[in-house]
Amino acid sequence: MAERPVDRPVRLTDFKLHEAPVPEPKAGEFVIRVIYASLAPVMRFYMLDGAGIEKPLEIGEVMRGRGVGQVIASRNPNFKDGDIVQGKMGWQEYAVSDGSPYWMMYKVHQRIVPVSTALGVLGVTGFTAYFGLFDIGKPKPGETVLVSGAAGGVGSSVGQLAKIIGCRTVGIAGTAEKCSLLTEKLGYDAAINYKTEDVSARIGVLCGAGVDVFFDNVGGPILDAALAHINKYARVVACGGISQYIAGSTEPYPLRNAYKIGRLNALLQGFLIYDYEPRFVEAERAMAAWVKDGKLTYQEDVLDGIERMPEALIRLYAGENKGKQLVRISPDPF
Ligand SMILES: NC(=O)c1ccc[n+]([C@@H]2O[C@H](COP(=O)([O-])OP(=O)(O)OC[C@H]3O[C@@H](n4cnc5c(N)ncnc54)[C@H](OP(=O)(O)O)[C@@H]3O)[C@@H](O)[C@H]2O)c1
Repeated sequence: MAERPVDRPVRLTDFKLHEAPVPEPKAGEFVIRVIYASLAPVMRFYMLDGAGIEKPLEIGEVMRGRGVGQVIASRNPNFKDGDIVQGKMGWQEYAVSDGSPYWMMYKVHQRIVPVSTALGVLGVTGFTAYFGLFDIGKPKPGETVLVSGAAGGVGSSVGQLAKIIGCRTVGIAGTAEKCSLLTEKLGYDAAINYKTEDVSARIGVLCGAGVDVFFDNVGGPILDAALAHINKYARVVACGGISQYIAGSTEPYPLRNAYKIGRLNALLQGFLIYDYEPRFVEAERAMAAWVKDGKLTYQEDVLDGIERMPEALIRLYAGENKGKQLVRISPDPF
């Protein structure tokens, strides 16, 4: 990291490429060749204040992020050469870890080709969809599930998971192309383009029986529009609020319809996916089974080369990514 994006969006010049020799593992360590690196909206907060998850990065530190890679040299008995692992690898071509809890490093159990899936549908992104929807949203067959950021990494799984258990699903996204993707590939019954349509009016039409579960990835005006249409006992999953991440204002967006939560005995709950870490294996197993059965498809947006990491991050805030944003750092061996 070269600069902090204080009060402004992330820029390409916030990062610098630095070359160093590939490290040798010390006793207890192992070296990983990174294959894919994951991009996530939270990364801007890592650069500023750590997002309440980690300490803020210092200027000159390796940018933080998850990756999937292959162990190429190990002096740790729990990780051997050739193992495919997932965890904190940072924006680098080779990472060193000692496998301690800080690294959140685990062997990929349900390996599906390509291994990029270990960061998307079968990784923390997919687990966010799984636990947010099933543990907080608690959808029941026949209910209506509305999803914002529906064509992104998390959102592209949420609609399909809701569909698997028999819900009606409506997705919200920012381009006509993404809306087609939602209904043609990602199993949504209907889609709303929030940039060209009146979101509240369209929710009213497409969720005629009201919204039972709102899975929110974006916050702000779209959250407010959705709240206007929630049903009695609705569940609002506050997964993320990307529309507010660079708003440049310290004031939270004024939600005019927040009163509906109390009036309709509804629930609005946030969560941090890392609190679910002890149950990641459960999600990985369930999601992999659905992928293998053809019930769950995945959408990835892959750029090539470590030098494109800054560009890939910026794509998330600009809405340019379709599905899970990744960068291929080295050739996928499978
Ligand atoms: N709670 C947790 O533990 C947890 C874990 C992971 C992720 N999250 C959150 O989940 C959300 C989705 O994450 P992701 O990794 O899957 O990212 P993503 O959805 O793949 O990428 C971000 C998407 O947000 C949309 N967006 C950007 N600016 C927007 C705006 N002003 N208004 C509305 N939409 C906007 C864009 O799609 P459009 O073209 O449709 O605008 C963009 O493609 C984020 O808010 C993230 O912080 C939370």
